[in-house]
Amino acid sequence: KRLAVFCSGTGTNFKALFHAIIERELPAEIVLCLSNRLQCGAVDFAREYGIETMLLSEKQFATQGDFARAMLDALRERRIDMILLAGYLRKVPDEVIAAYPDKIVNIHPSLLPQFGGHGMYGMRVHEAVIASGENRSGATVHFVNEEYDKGRIIMQNHVPVLAGDTPETLAKRVLRCEHRLYPDALEKLLAGES
Ligand code: GRF
Repeated sequence: KRLAVFCSGTGTNFKALFHAIIERELPAEIVLCLSNRLQCGAVDFAREYGIETMLLSEKQFATQGDFARAMLDALRERRIDMILLAGYLRKVPDEVIAAYPDKIVNIHPSLLPQFGGHGMYGMRVHEAVIASGENRSGATVHFVNEEYDKGRIIMQNHVPVLAGDTPETLAKRVLRCEHRLYPDALEKLLAGES
């Protein structure tokens, strides 16, 4: 399967996926790293691994429609089968979601449906989990649909919230969990289960 990974940030999930594909000999290849930010860790990893990188941002286009068509063209030109969002902080245009039904996947650093939705990203998720008094959090891999963080859940994994946790200590524990969960979810999808 030909994969495109969409990133905006440090790219630790991108890196974990890249290594898992090799180590687990998954039937997949990351052929494109698409980012809306030129300077980001994921693009650096992609360059290091010899993976094509592309900057694609709404700011480059007169209309949202032009942006969506440019994204669709880029995906079709490379015969992309699946899109993995990994720390991608923009909404995927509805036209792209419609063109790739049950083929766009995202990872979110909480146990959805709790603590999801627009604006719940980065440290905000972990601040909210701690403030809620929950004694466990985790990560969720789900299909992307037109509503933020609402697509069908593919796989989840839990981590404890410990007394004295700060958003940073919880974020670190959840991120480690993500780095195992995302490859596990990808393996399951590639095996034809979902
Ligand atoms: C992670 O918390 C991930 O769940 C969210 O973006 C954060 C950073 O991911 N989607 P990465 O290090 O850029 O992969």
